Formats: sequence, C-alpha cells, structure tokens
Amino acid sequence: MTSLRLQNVKKSYAHVNVIHGIDLTINSGEFVVFVGPSGCGKSTLLRMIAGLEEISSGKLLIEDQDMTQQPATERGIAMVFQSYALYPNMTVRGNLAYPLEVAKKPKADIAKAIEETAARLHLTELLDRLPRALSGGQRQRVAIGRAIIRHPRIFLFDEPLSNLDAELRLQMRIEIARLHASLGNTMIYVTHDQLEAMTLADRIVVLRQGIIEQVGAPLTLYQDPDNLFVAGFIGSPKMNFLSAEISAVGNGEVQLRVPDLGLSALILKIAAPCHEGQHVQLGIRPEHFQPVESSPAALQFQGELSFCERLGHTNYLYLDIGRENMLVVEAREARETTLGEQVRLGISPAHCFLFDEHGARMR
Ligand SMILES: Nc1ncnc2c1ncn2[C@@H]1O[C@H](COP(=O)(O)OP(=O)(O)OP(=O)(O)O)[C@@H](O)[C@H]1O
Ligand SMILES: [Mg+2]
Repeated sequence: MTSLRLQNVKKSYAHVNVIHGIDLTINSGEFVVFVGPSGCGKSTLLRMIAGLEEISSGKLLIEDQDMTQQPATERGIAMVFQSYALYPNMTVRGNLAYPLEVAKKPKADIAKAIEETAARLHLTELLDRLPRALSGGQRQRVAIGRAIIRHPRIFLFDEPLSNLDAELRLQMRIEIARLHASLGNTMIYVTHDQLEAMTLADRIVVLRQGIIEQVGAPLTLYQDPDNLFVAGFIGSPKMNFLSAEISAVGNGEVQLRVPDLGLSALILKIAAPCHEGQHVQLGIRPEHFQPVESSPAALQFQGELSFCERLGHTNYLYLDIGRENMLVVEAREARETTLGEQVRLGISPAHCFLFDEHGARMR
C-alpha cells in the first residue's frame, strides 16, 4: 500500500528554487533514507512532508489523500529533530505526556502510554528526571518516545544522531532499526552519513541540489550506480575516478587509455553508445584492485605509497600516481609497508565503472 506520494514537489524561497520537482512514492512500512551533501534540500523536503514548510507547487498525498494544504496536525506525522527539542522544565514523563495532553486524551490512557513507551525505549528509570540530567543518547530516546507515543502513521527523522558520539550513534542506529522492525510504520530518515543510510534503509533517495539523483536499495546504489555522483557518494572510502579516453569501439566493447595508470589497452564491455576519442571517467572502488599475481601484465600499474591507514580488519593504502588525488586501495592482507615504496597492483575490468563526460553511467 502506498503510504506517501510526492508529485512534482517544488520549493522556492523568494526567487531561489531549492527543490526542483520531486516525484517519489513511499510504500507503507518502508524505511526510506534521504541522503545527500549539506544544502541539497533534505530538511526542506522533510519539513514540507511534515507540514512545517509550505509546498510551493506540486502535490503531497498521504494514503492517497491530498494533504498538500493540510496543516501539520492533520497529517498523522511525527518528527524527531537533531536538536531533540525537549521542554527543558518538564520531566521525561512530562515531555512524553505533552502531545497526548494537547490531544486531550484521558489521564489513565496517558499513564498507560507513558509506561509502554518508556519500557520500549529503556526510559522507565529516568521518567522523573529533567532533560538536563540526561545524556545525549537518553535525550534523543525521549524525543523519539514523544514521537511514537502519538501512534503517528509516518515518522520523520532529521539527522537524529548527529549530536552523539560514534559509539552512541551506532547503538541508537540499531535501536531505530529495531523500533522500525517492531512498529512497522513508514519512516523517512534524513542523514548526510552514507553509512547510516546504507545500514538503515530499505531504499535510499540520493539528493543533490534539490533533485533526486537515484532511488534504490542500498546495495543497488553501491553495485549499480546510475551516475558519477551516486558512485562517489555511496561507499567509504569513496570510489576512485580516473580520466580516460576511448581508443577503440566494437563488438560491445571499448578499449580505453588511462594515462594516470599508464594503461593503454583496458577493455570493458559497454553497450552504451560511445565513440573513439571520447573522454570518460573510469571508476574503481578501493576494494576492487587485484594483486599482481592474479592480473595480466597489461592491466598492471604502480604507485608510490605515501600513506597507510591500518584499521585492524583492513588497510587502506594511499598511492601517489603522479596526479593531485591519491589513489585509495584497500588491502585486506596486513603486510609490512614502507612509505615511499612502489606498490604494484592490477585492475579488474569486471569491477570497473564507466561514466560519460556528463557523469552518466555507461553500461
Ligand atoms: N528559510 C530559507 N530561506 C532561504 N533559503 C533557505 C531557507 N531554508 C533553507 N534554504 C536553502 O535551501 C537549501 C536546502 O536547505 P536544507 O536545509 O533543506 O538542506 P539540507 O540538505 O538539510 O542540508 P544539511 O545537511 O546541512 O542539513 C539550502 O541552500 C538553504 O540555504
Ligand atoms: Mg538539514
């Protein structure tokens, strides 16, 4: 069942257009993550869905009802913000009760709802504390509690974990995933952290400058990006991009020259229209380089090791290949390395991505 639909939704402030026509359908119970760089319009889009911001043009449907002009209170939506936005002079109990008191629910129902919500979010021991006596993670749990206690149809989260330290973020990320699994509500979650997007989402919506670049399951975006922006945004460390030139075309294959790697005959299977002399970008993820032993001489290159990050479970090598950007290579095997040494590797045509001069994927 459709939970929410955006039809050609646009937003402008005075004469500045910030959202350029978004079409998106979200299914009932889906966990959808909006991701994109700062300023791309994630919060604006979420606030328009919540009814906190007017929709300049286009339509918003919730469960097939036109909600474009409806006030926030009529939409059945609850929103959780990065800043928690708790009432500082109310206890946790008071903060949880507030939305139900405003809705004039009977006292006994409110008490029961508080008890259930507190138990679900491990807040029972903290009910009589004021927000200032809580940690960041506890405050964010209260903010989430205040949202779920109203039984909204849809939850919106705007970077709810950004103020937390790394360990707490991970813990809260798991709690939010569990909450979604147990409540089964539609959730829309905004973040600029691609790791959060990858781990939480059923589907990710990648936004850039007010438009959707791609919508898809996390692994689809990772394995089959539609364009250079999505390829570079999803994955950490990010995909390496190398300038290349098509030197021959035929039989569903292209031959590439890749000057930065000193390669003159990299052959890729590409069905997209292309021509000899075309300038393209070759994309290779850090984890997709090959040891020399398993790659033919024509696909080998070398670079000078200028930096090595050892993370325990894996290592990232930063290779100077004589251009401004280092090539980032993941090396699972921890071996002794010396800065300045020449590292020789191969590339695997099956793991290469190709993008045209406009950044569109060539498949
Ligand atoms: N009230 C406003 N008046 C004018 N421009 C605005 C207003 N609110 C937001 N914008 C602009 O709209 C664009 C999108 O802003 P938005 O807050 O939605 O970005 P975001 O993707 O949430 O970014 P961040 O990751 O930094 O939170 C930005 O360029 C911003 O400057
Ligand atoms: Mg924002």
